[in-house]
Amino acid sequence: MPAPVHHLDGRWVVSGYDAVRAVLADPAAYLPDNALTAVTPVRPAALRELVRARFTLPPTLANNSGASHSGLRRLVASFLTPARVAAMEPRIAELTAERLGGADLVRDLAWDLPCIVLMEVLGLSGVDVPALKAWSTASLEFFWGDVTPERQLELAGPVGEFHQWLVKRFHARDGDLFAALADHGVTAEEAAGLCYFLLIAGQETTTQLLSVAFDRALRDRPLWSRLALPGVAEDVVEDVLREVPPVVTWRRVTARPVTLAGVDLPAGAELVLLLAGAFDDRGRHLAFGYGRHYCLGAGLARLEAAVVLRTVAQRLPDLRLASAGPPPMLKLLSFRAPLEVPVGCPLSGNLIGA
Ligand code: HEM
Repeated sequence: MPAPVHHLDGRWVVSGYDAVRAVLADPAAYLPDNALTAVTPVRPAALRELVRARFTLPPTLANNSGASHSGLRRLVASFLTPARVAAMEPRIAELTAERLGGADLVRDLAWDLPCIVLMEVLGLSGVDVPALKAWSTASLEFFWGDVTPERQLELAGPVGEFHQWLVKRFHARDGDLFAALADHGVTAEEAAGLCYFLLIAGQETTTQLLSVAFDRALRDRPLWSRLALPGVAEDVVEDVLREVPPVVTWRRVTARPVTLAGVDLPAGAELVLLLAGAFDDRGRHLAFGYGRHYCLGAGLARLEAAVVLRTVAQRLPDLRLASAGPPPMLKLLSFRAPLEVPVGCPLSGNLIGA
């Protein structure tokens, strides 16, 4: 068992349910201000590209310890009420049914479905989903990846483009979310920063959750055959969130000198909280964080994952993994998930190596 707090490469790694929850529960001592700071410092060439695109991420939601957080949080929460989320269930099942029959559950199903659902929940129409996915995957790698200077410069292009597109939609008040933000009196810079995070966090993580869950459930035949029964998909999703969550770490920075689990930390200490593995003996976990910044999309992510899993298991009870080996993985500081889940059905004859 590692100590709950240990120093590694200039950061403090916090592990275990109690220590991680203690940090998340005290937003005055542990600020979220570094939540969206690039893991690899941005080099001058990439920075010039971002400046040219007028890219900024002012404090809005996940990275906001200030007074504007609660109003912005309420506004976004109004798009994600339990009633609005529950109303999406038939649409999620429909989108799933339209995406069966492909040879890779990530590419053909988990990739765009959460993005389409998010756009509909937020009332954003006419969005080029493949373009948005290209921008958001580039952004994940730019902010959470261990990237070379060349790769960073390459990624800065789509990062800047995404932001410019958001500013344009805000100025046009194009979509329910942008109209609500304009009515709330936020600046274009704040609106673009908020939406930049929301449009990434609100769908990339669900793509990842689905990818982990499919990979796991298909490796366990008895489980796959029970998945169509009521409540089983929900339990599988909860087990995945507890045991192999897609958001494996989240960050905080100390506001002042503090003592955490007996370890003295200076002001300004960068903390990496290990959300993966942070569960207690009652099964409680921290996959969606805790406290003031608790994930606003937890209900949507849970529903979406359960409905998609159940629908696929109902329609394709004989589905098999086409490769028994470990899948190639997305490996970023905060995000971990299979990049592909190759499948086939023995009856349809498209199963490689069956
Ligand atoms: C499996 C899917 C997801 C996981 C694992 C996840 C995880 C997280 C985590 C760990 C945080 C930080 C919490 C904290 O600091 O205490 C967070 C915040 C947030 N998430 Fe999620 N998330 C997921 C899906 C979503 C979805 C679908 C949406 C939107 C529709 C969303 C929107 C947000 C927002 C807006 C915040 C910031 C809240 C605030 O600062 O007040 N997330 N999420």
